[in-house]
Amino acid sequence: MTEREIVEKIKNSKKYKTVYIKTIQRIVADCFARFGEKRAEKEAKNLLHQVWGAFYETRPDFDKIYTKLDLEIKSKNNLRNIILPILKLQSSVEERITILEQFYKKIFEITGMPNSIIDQACAINPLTIPWINLPSTTIYKAYDIDSEEIEFLNSVFQLLEIKNAKAELKDTLSDEFEYADVVFMLKLLPCLEHQKKNCSLDILKKQKCKFLVVSFPIKSIGGKEKGMYEFYGNNFRNMVMSENWEIRELVFETELVFVIKK
Ligand SMILES: C[S@@+](CC[C@H](N)C(=O)[O-])C[C@H]1O[C@@H](n2cnc3c(N)ncnc32)[C@H](O)[C@@H]1O
Repeated sequence: MTEREIVEKIKNSKKYKTVYIKTIQRIVADCFARFGEKRAEKEAKNLLHQVWGAFYETRPDFDKIYTKLDLEIKSKNNLRNIILPILKLQSSVEERITILEQFYKKIFEITGMPNSIIDQACAINPLTIPWINLPSTTIYKAYDIDSEEIEFLNSVFQLLEIKNAKAELKDTLSDEFEYADVVFMLKLLPCLEHQKKNCSLDILKKQKCKFLVVSFPIKSIGGKEKGMYEFYGNNFRNMVMSENWEIRELVFETELVFVIKK
């Protein structure tokens, strides 16, 4: 199969049909160059699963979730309580639930409330907007590589009348990004390193912003410590050592956060 045929085959498959075409093209091209024609399709699918598919235990039915949310919103229950079960569906966001009350509070104590936020590779993290207490004057842009997730997020913003938030299909490694006061790169760097080795520092430098909020998981879903704090923390500190950036560290129970003033 040619590189193009592999891209088409993956894009037309049941599992990967919602993945951004630019991401599939980039990953297939890399796998083609690294592993050759015979192994390219399998390696590309494995990588796509690892960096996109693996964060959901089972693929959510976003239409069903939206319908339920719509009903519950009408019943005027507490918004945070309605949203919590949805956050549990995606592993990186689930790990954040127990720290949500403090998470944004501590970050914005350092950055101040920004006028604009970009949430890179957001997954369903924008559903935590009710914990941010986002002012209506702050623009929140959320980007990821999953078209169904992006559509779902925009429908939820509409339903909740969050007019200053918008989700869009964008690939952190392939697309260009506008300026924002604060850029979130939550638990993203390990995922990008799988796709392009040693890309992290360049990606951080490329972001146009006043503050970068970069985080790493420090507790796995099973709750088992695996030296993740030392591993990610030390690697990150070494990587940014020669940059003239002011960096503050926040250690939460499940997440290590670096707030970088560029
Ligand atoms: C580890 S999760 C992080 C999710 C979110 N930032 C959080 O911490 O809650 C990885 C997310 O990155 C997305 N992703 C992977 N590679 C990407 C890329 N090159 N550009 C944009 N998003 C990407 C996946 O679709 C997935 O939603």
